[in-house]
Amino acid sequence: MSDLFSKFDPLISERAGVLAKGVRDPFAIVMQQVKSPTVAVIDGRDTILLGTYNYMGMTFDADVIAAGETALRDFGAGTTGSRVLNGTYQGHKECEEALKDFYGMEHAIVFSTGYLANLGMVSTLAGKGDYIILDADSHASIYDGCYLGNADIVRFKHNSAEDLEKRLRRLPPEAGKLVILEGVYSMLGDIAPLKELVGIAKAHGAMVLVDEAHGMGFFGEHGRGVYEAAGVADDVDFVVGTFSKSVGTVGGFCVSNHPKFEILRLVCRPYTFTASLPPAVVACAATSIRKLMHAGEKRQRLWEMSRKLHGGLLARGFRLATETCESAIVSVLMPDQETTVRMWQAMLELGVYVNMSRPPATPAGVFLLRCSLCAEHSAAQLEIVLERFGQAAAMVGLFETAVEVAAE
Ligand SMILES: Cc1ncc(COP(=O)(O)O)c(C=O)c1O
Repeated sequence: MSDLFSKFDPLISERAGVLAKGVRDPFAIVMQQVKSPTVAVIDGRDTILLGTYNYMGMTFDADVIAAGETALRDFGAGTTGSRVLNGTYQGHKECEEALKDFYGMEHAIVFSTGYLANLGMVSTLAGKGDYIILDADSHASIYDGCYLGNADIVRFKHNSAEDLEKRLRRLPPEAGKLVILEGVYSMLGDIAPLKELVGIAKAHGAMVLVDEAHGMGFFGEHGRGVYEAAGVADDVDFVVGTFSKSVGTVGGFCVSNHPKFEILRLVCRPYTFTASLPPAVVACAATSIRKLMHAGEKRQRLWEMSRKLHGGLLARGFRLATETCESAIVSVLMPDQETTVRMWQAMLELGVYVNMSRPPATPAGVFLLRCSLCAEHSAAQLEIVLERFGQAAAMVGLFETAVEVAAE
């Protein structure tokens, strides 16, 4: 019998090699207590959370928690099945109403995660004979939606209007086309030039789907996302999003003005064939979404904190993925895998939790320590974070490594 696990051997030895050098297993970290959106207890110590995507700090909002507690008591712990079989609960409806109001759109459909929202929308919208044209740096859930469906897949160079144009020009004019974009790309924290990209897609007769997972809550006048800030709302056919970031809980969704949108509930397999979100979760989400409509102050604070971290790291000599602060994700470029892991561990030992990213999640050859800001971070916390980054860099000899790499 051949061992089906043998294909993982290279990864298993790579991982063992990294751990043999004395670094901790990042996947073994346990948050023993979460005290607030910005502080958790790890190894018995208070640790500043700087990698949660909890942009608006809604996880501990008193109204959100109260709504969740009430729904848990009144509707029970779970729905035990799909809405198609077990029925729609009041909370699912309220959640979809909140989304329609938040986005000013006619239709909203809630999925059990953002991953499932992309899986469902991408695989269902574009069928046999249609084309999906997606940014090369698209999230895994978008790629997986492509693999689940039957459309032909065309990738264009990340954020390149020229390449998108070139690829669209080569496709049959009469074929169905779906261009998929993201407002904020979560690895590098850069934003898409949506005005240009959406304009090109429309000029070639394509429908446009924008994933606003990392833009919801704080981009645009109403916090709808980068597409709103770019002024292209009228040309975007579908907005996909998640509750696991600014909304502060779990779930995914798509909103649209398409008149036939509701048919998706019958034909979209990742909606139909999985359990719906529990009552407490949809109650938390609906309350949070409604509060995010009036979160101007938080939004401003999030931007202030993001700029402070971005500017502070640049001033301390770190290389960042974006020249200016484009979003609430600040990605610090690392020279190689080993330095990334050591730096991540040093930060944790110094009491700061950040995300570590490597290919294939990142573009080829890119190693990152990713920070995401929260509106609840204080200026004092960020001062500590900046000081710790400096200390960690000295501990691992980051700047020496970086210079060697540059000189190669
Ligand atoms: C761009 C993007 N889309 C979709 C998702 C999936 O969201 P969820 O965590 O709700 O599955 C993520 C999550 O990281 C994301 O970054």
